[in-house]
Amino acid sequence: MTERFDTPTDIRRYNRRAWDRAVERRSEWTVPADAATIAAARRGDWRIILTPVKPVPRSWFSPLASCRVLCLASGGGQQGPVLAAAGATVTVLDNSPQQLAQDRYVADREHLALTTVEGDMADLAAFADDSFDLIVHPCSNLFVADVRPVWREAYRVLRPGGALLAGFCNPASFIFDAALADEGVLQVRHKLPYSDLNSLTPEERQRYLDDEQPLEFGHTLEDQIGGQLDAGFVLTGFYEDGWPGVKLAEYMPIFIATRAVKP
Ligand SMILES: C[S@@+](CC[C@H](N)C(=O)[O-])C[C@H]1O[C@@H](n2cnc3c(N)ncnc32)[C@H](O)[C@@H]1O
Repeated sequence: MTERFDTPTDIRRYNRRAWDRAVERRSEWTVPADAATIAAARRGDWRIILTPVKPVPRSWFSPLASCRVLCLASGGGQQGPVLAAAGATVTVLDNSPQQLAQDRYVADREHLALTTVEGDMADLAAFADDSFDLIVHPCSNLFVADVRPVWREAYRVLRPGGALLAGFCNPASFIFDAALADEGVLQVRHKLPYSDLNSLTPEERQRYLDDEQPLEFGHTLEDQIGGQLDAGFVLTGFYEDGWPGVKLAEYMPIFIATRAVKP
């Protein structure tokens, strides 16, 4: 029988299971870096993404040697192992044990030093203030109901002068009827902020739960960009990205990446 999930605490538990299932289903966000990618990264030829397609500009990074990097909600064996092979000291925090297992799989295969921590992106109590020089946070805050604690915690654990590189969804992605959009029809339906818990009919939500799809939340730009500024960050970089095959992306970029510095 399908469990019922009603509270924010349940969202984290539900999404842990949903992302473990995504690993079993080999979702593209769970496929670990291959040996050639790691070998190239060791030679200095590396790139990572925060959004589906565009690589993060190299100008957004300081030298990686001895750089303490937190890959935040970034399991799956992608960003973490690449940055470790490029010389960084990497910790990957994620809510899904199976996603973290992908990072450990690459680390073991490639003899990379890498630390994995199971936890919540909104609660970094496992880390002291000023613990990291760089935080890499690929598009994943759509899986928490409230994004502002994520920015505040990222700010706390970064050292002054450290940078937060974040990818997130343009909220426009969430205002359309998802089932119709899959059929190529863009029909405005939902108000922002969007929540799989509150914006769908009970029957639609139950279909997501029955299929063990991760629950998603569409945050406003005020929470995404204003939230970083309110946490104390200074924005120093910005780009947008698309996603081939997604109808709305034919009309506008649907992902945003920011570089934010803790003064
Ligand atoms: C789209 S994947 C992003 C990771 C991937 N390496 C990439 O290249 O974008 C989203 C990740 O967010 C994680 N996640 C979801 N909710 C989380 C939470 N509350 N705290 C930490 N991680 C979470 C999932 O387990 C999943 O690994």
